Amino acid sequence: MKMTRRFAFLGLCSLLAFTAWLGFGPGRFGAAADTVLAQDADLESKKIVPYVPSPQEVVDKMLELAAVKKGDVVYDLGSGDGRIVVTAAKKYGVKAIGFEIDPERIRESRENIEKERVQKLAEIRQQDILTVDLSGATVVTMYLLPDVNLKLRPNLLSQLKPGSRVVSHAFDMGDWKPDKVERVNGRTVYLWTIPAKGAPKK
Ligand SMILES: C[S@@+](CC[C@H](N)C(=O)[O-])C[C@H]1O[C@@H](n2cnc3c(N)ncnc32)[C@H](O)[C@@H]1O
Repeated sequence: MKMTRRFAFLGLCSLLAFTAWLGFGPGRFGAAADTVLAQDADLESKKIVPYVPSPQEVVDKMLELAAVKKGDVVYDLGSGDGRIVVTAAKKYGVKAIGFEIDPERIRESRENIEKERVQKLAEIRQQDILTVDLSGATVVTMYLLPDVNLKLRPNLLSQLKPGSRVVSHAFDMGDWKPDKVERVNGRTVYLWTIPAKGAPKK
């Protein structure tokens, strides 16, 4: 009996030593959990707009108002479940990139891209929208907040090529007057066109 306990004790010690050697000890799990927590907190602090999806008829109106055509590249800033990039790719056959910070939304949107079989045209990048280089886009779509639109305004005006279109669901751009405003089911959609460099702001 004594002998059996001794063997059990030695067995447990060897197992602990082996897992520690593999690096799977409690310390490692603790460190990994801390890193995940820190990353989550970092992402949370960067999330400046809550997730509220645009109804599909608003998505359709945004892309229609932007007059999306072959060769355009659509960027959706804060892309949620990916409905704008999926629609741009599926309906207009254009390249569309969504920028999103929330891992859950990123997972969901990538699933939607696969489900709708538009992987060749649509993609989602995990990136803070305030750091996105917009120079590759010809159409930018946004459903954000008034102060976030204003934070993005200098980047839109300096990085997009003249003639690029910006559409926003619900919120305007302060004193940058829109070229068009349309309503759909009680929602407002704004359109701006990037002016030629040096042109006075409308
Ligand atoms: C109002 S939802 C719009 C979703 C989608 N564009 C639509 O119209 O259906 C805003 C999205 O922005 C994302 N978001 C918030 N802050 C962000 C940031 N700093 N960088 C990237 N995405 C962000 C949110 O997670 C959310 O999915």
